[in-house]
Amino acid sequence: MNKKAIITSALPYANGEIHLGHVASTYLPADVTTRFLKLNGVEAYYVCASDDFGTPILIQSEKEGKTPTEYVAYWNKRDYEDFSAFNIDFDYFYKTSSSENIAFVQDVFKKLNDSGHIYEKEIIQFYCNNDKKFLPDRYVKGICPYCKAEDQYSDLCESCGRVPDEITDPKCSLCGEPPTKEKTTHYFFRLTNFGDSLSKWLDENDHLQKDVKKYVQNWIKSGLIDWDITRDISWGVPVPLSGANDKVFYGWFDNHLAYISTALKFLADKGIDGKSFWNSADIYHFIGKDIVYHHYLFLPAMRLGINSEYKLPDYIPTRGHLTLQGKKISKSRNWYIGLKQFLEYYPADYLRFYLVSINPYSQDDLNFDWDDFATRINSELIGNLGNFVNRALGFTKKSFDGKVPETTSFDEKDLEAEGKIKNLSNEVGSLLEQNHLDRALKKIMEFSSFFNQYFQHKEPWKLSPGTTNCVFLSVNAARSMAITLFPFLPESSQKIWIQLGLDGNVKDSSWSGASELKILSGHVLGDSFPLFTKVEITDIEKHKKNLGPSK
Ligand code: 2FM
Ligand code: ZN
Repeated sequence: MNKKAIITSALPYANGEIHLGHVASTYLPADVTTRFLKLNGVEAYYVCASDDFGTPILIQSEKEGKTPTEYVAYWNKRDYEDFSAFNIDFDYFYKTSSSENIAFVQDVFKKLNDSGHIYEKEIIQFYCNNDKKFLPDRYVKGICPYCKAEDQYSDLCESCGRVPDEITDPKCSLCGEPPTKEKTTHYFFRLTNFGDSLSKWLDENDHLQKDVKKYVQNWIKSGLIDWDITRDISWGVPVPLSGANDKVFYGWFDNHLAYISTALKFLADKGIDGKSFWNSADIYHFIGKDIVYHHYLFLPAMRLGINSEYKLPDYIPTRGHLTLQGKKISKSRNWYIGLKQFLEYYPADYLRFYLVSINPYSQDDLNFDWDDFATRINSELIGNLGNFVNRALGFTKKSFDGKVPETTSFDEKDLEAEGKIKNLSNEVGSLLEQNHLDRALKKIMEFSSFFNQYFQHKEPWKLSPGTTNCVFLSVNAARSMAITLFPFLPESSQKIWIQLGLDGNVKDSSWSGASELKILSGHVLGDSFPLFTKVEITDIEKHKKNLGPSK
């Protein structure tokens, strides 16, 4: 395992609150992975930033009568607070509108320009005579020329994931009038220069998901198009060329560069040489499948265009969208659960447990279902895991005064149990290394259910010979669970740690140490208390009724 890593997840637009859909596909998987890497002694840093520029943000700030700077500052703070409440533990959360990012983006542009990857072209752009402005991207809605989906923004079709060359039947999104066409000069990035090198990079990188690679290769084969990277609006990174002072970069030109500029800023503050760290680390960009085009084509092409001064990503874990009760999430139709709101109902670990459990390492969509949530929390998290910890530690408290007893020679069942502990860190770890977070969590649950059965089978309450082995091994199993659960359930695993009477913080453990029997006879446990409280079905019914049009 590489001993250095930088982890990012898709930067949230500073334009509305974080909801369950955001955290399921990107922030939670990235957070789990970072915590796992750290337990393995990797110098891993999880950096993120609010995505501040772009037309939707400008439009919204105008509607709210705020300056875009005020507007994004509000969402930057709010997003960070919501993520923190969910224990998304960024090492650094910054913003794409930082002075560091602006300078970095302008520098990258100059290098691309000097290397011949940029050209200027007069284009015909939509213009609204009513609003008196050019209408880039989200200022125009229409029909996707590829898949014919209606009501799509002109910069990205949410239905087929492609970036339309020109949207059909355009309408101004501010006033609904059909726009006229006017001439303006824009800068273009020659994405077409990079078809072969992108294809080679995709072929050679074994860590990228095969199915995603395949459709990106098909996009390359069907022909890339150069990319219009400037906009005639006031909110963005200014184009650093004389004569282009009134232009800014398109948001997707600057935002992913904030992965690098934010990491550099954070590392510089720590006194680390950012560029050499970046180039010797494993680079992970966690994303949802709607932004594959940007992360598998634009982003790597721009890095190739500056001679890979900053290396290309090693991993781009790409996951599907979250649906809610089987339907597409929609804020306007109130088919939506804000993260902040959810955390008023249930602890962060409940949501972390549920979202990881239902989230495979694939493009398949996943579904949040309130009944399924209640079942999984009550029967798996509480019925299996909570039950085992409670039983094993409670029994040790009651029957041995909390003191781990001396063992006798192990019988076959004990040896099997010991073997399970010894294999746990490798088994769970190799799944986590392959990004199969759901399967890794399932392994821990299987481990817990094995120990529930072992405990039941041994009937330690009869205090027959062999009881002490059962107690000794069960207490050690609880410790193994605390460590391996930490990436998934940081709060609960620390609670187990405290109940075990162990010093310090579970986060300072080593991953492989989860397979050692570190709790020795004579060790005294801490106080026992229930780890979880049951999810009530009456509450679930209320939550379900809160969705959809208000009745
Ligand atoms: O699609 C989005 O939500 C964008 N804000 C993601 C940006 S990721 C980028 F920075 F690479
Ligand atoms: Zn208009």
